[in-house]
Amino acid sequence: MTVKTLIIGHGAREHVLGETLVRDGAILYAFMSSKNAGLEDLSQGKIKIHSETDFSEIIEFSKKNNIDFAVIGPEAPLVVGVVDALEKSGIPCVGPRIEAAQLEGSKIFTRNLLEKYKITSNIVSKSFRSMENIESFIKDLGEENIVVKPDGLTGGKGVKVYGDHLFSKQDILDYCQTLIDQKASILLEEKVDGEEFTLQTFVDGKNVVATPLVQDHKRAYEDDAGPNTGGMGSYSMENHLMPFISQEDVDEAIEDMKKVVAATKAETGVEYKGFLYGGYIKTAKGIKLIEFNARLGDPEAMNILPLLKTNFIDICMGIINGNLKSDIQFENKATVCKYLAPKGYPMSPQKNELVIINKEKLKQLGAKYYYASVYREGGNVYTTSSRAMGIIGVANDLESAEKVAEQGVGCISGKLFYRKDIGTAKLLQKRIDHMNSLLQ
Ligand code: GLY
Repeated sequence: MTVKTLIIGHGAREHVLGETLVRDGAILYAFMSSKNAGLEDLSQGKIKIHSETDFSEIIEFSKKNNIDFAVIGPEAPLVVGVVDALEKSGIPCVGPRIEAAQLEGSKIFTRNLLEKYKITSNIVSKSFRSMENIESFIKDLGEENIVVKPDGLTGGKGVKVYGDHLFSKQDILDYCQTLIDQKASILLEEKVDGEEFTLQTFVDGKNVVATPLVQDHKRAYEDDAGPNTGGMGSYSMENHLMPFISQEDVDEAIEDMKKVVAATKAETGVEYKGFLYGGYIKTAKGIKLIEFNARLGDPEAMNILPLLKTNFIDICMGIINGNLKSDIQFENKATVCKYLAPKGYPMSPQKNELVIINKEKLKQLGAKYYYASVYREGGNVYTTSSRAMGIIGVANDLESAEKVAEQGVGCISGKLFYRKDIGTAKLLQKRIDHMNSLLQ
């Protein structure tokens, strides 16, 4: 049977989702707010360029094309109810309904849920709608232990951490005041030290199936310097763990996610279905939750989907029908993703600059590439203000995967930069040393 699938979204995460669906036999359609050249090619032009939150247009496009199911890539349509709208019109979706998508859409909802259901990965936090009691909370926790998060989606911006962005109690209070003045609800959280890892899972309402662990690199420059970005690249290991994260740690995080999925149903009456991204940190006090996302990660989707051996359409159907199988297989290979971004990103990116891609050479090397925020005009590709392309090396071990990614980056030219250190032994050792120093 031929399956017609619709992908919603326009970035590198959606490009790799679309590639995996087509690889496994789907006929692809794409609905995106800006044209992703990879999705345009994979779908052979069966696309619509329109706002990803205009549900009636998505429904009309889906009905016209007899779509069997939709896969929602980004969080923005999920948190405003795209799945509820499509399902009401008879279009099954891979993605959570609005109530369950609050796990990403509201940090306050998530912390309250973890607290109410006594989920051990929780950390100390308190939400505020006014400045009342903020100062005493800061005093209790110690200003050097404070993270300030506006509630709701912030696109990776808005979270400010003591020591990185805030350097005194007054800085914290001023930032809280700014958010309160903007009518935002805010969450003050305990700052935790450790090594972060991404655990992306497939969830069918009850079953939670893990994919290989990934570590992302948020800082713009080498050695984790510079401003935060959407993620400059990521790696995964051939054993699907991290050198500083054991199978027991993963099992603990999976148990945690299962409890959260059950708690979401108990609290909202809605089953969580779709991809659930657990942003965890291993600390001296155990595994703690930084954030959930109601979607796959970007770049992390590019680390896991190219390794998938199980048919992705079957996985999507399992998620939709609530009968996801637990034996989902991935190749025992390492991956390294290096993101190329326009020079000046994220502060003052050089837009509308030509990106030259040597596709022949990339193919020879076996490096994979995914389009992010670039546009194609007259056969040429140009930068916008965000990350341009993800280049992926897949190999038997991390060293070889890093080499492929690095050589792949060499096939792209333009006014771009990237982090050479991602996936290198030196950076990995730094992470191991950091973790060991905390566990002593
Ligand atoms: N890589 C972080 C994210 O997708 O949110």
